[in-house]
Amino acid sequence: MRIDIITLLPELLKSPFEASIMKRAIDKGFVEVHFHNLRDYTTNKQKSVDDYQFGGGAGMVMNIQPIDDCIAFLKSERSYDEIIYMTPDGETLNQGMANQMSSLENIIILCGHYKGVDQRVRDHFITKEISIGDYVLSGGELGAIVLSDALIRLIPGVLSDETSALTDSFQDNLLSPPIYTRPADYKGWKVPEVLLSGHAKKIEQWREDMAFEHTKNRRPDLLDK
Ligand code: ADE
Repeated sequence: MRIDIITLLPELLKSPFEASIMKRAIDKGFVEVHFHNLRDYTTNKQKSVDDYQFGGGAGMVMNIQPIDDCIAFLKSERSYDEIIYMTPDGETLNQGMANQMSSLENIIILCGHYKGVDQRVRDHFITKEISIGDYVLSGGELGAIVLSDALIRLIPGVLSDETSALTDSFQDNLLSPPIYTRPADYKGWKVPEVLLSGHAKKIEQWREDMAFEHTKNRRPDLLDK
């Protein structure tokens, strides 16, 4: 997979890709991540990337020209499966969407800023609009990081124990069951007996029951899906 992120703030994006699973995935060649600074694509002398809204109103709007030129440059090099715009009014990201998108070859993620982008960008270039939740961030960069992480860890081979992605919360519309590690007794707080029993079938049944219970209590909406 190749992810091209178009941004006004590349410095905000770097460090999450330089640690943990995303770094390992990049180092092992499972994914390439490239940042493109929109300011490098402006054709005006001031290098400005935004302007006032037609019709008046508070807040600046990102210009179409640098976005058009950046996307055109990327498309001249390869074809893209999706051109994604991070925006609070997009479709809310969930595990199902992450699963689907993790098998794509090349994607572009456009990060918005200020009030957002000129509507013509959305009408003519964007193929998918994604929100990471019902709150407004200062820009799309944090959303782009969240989306990239959710996708990258699902690429086969990225996680050393492949089954660990399969048992993640949400993977079957269920939350994960509780997990424990040593010591089996800490200050009298004991690990459930069944997990120490060595009885694989019973353990599996317990985990299924707990996942269901946990989901019923916290996210009953998932069980309706
Ligand atoms: N940009 C600003 N707020 C956002 C959100 N909630 N999700 C994705 N991108 C955003």
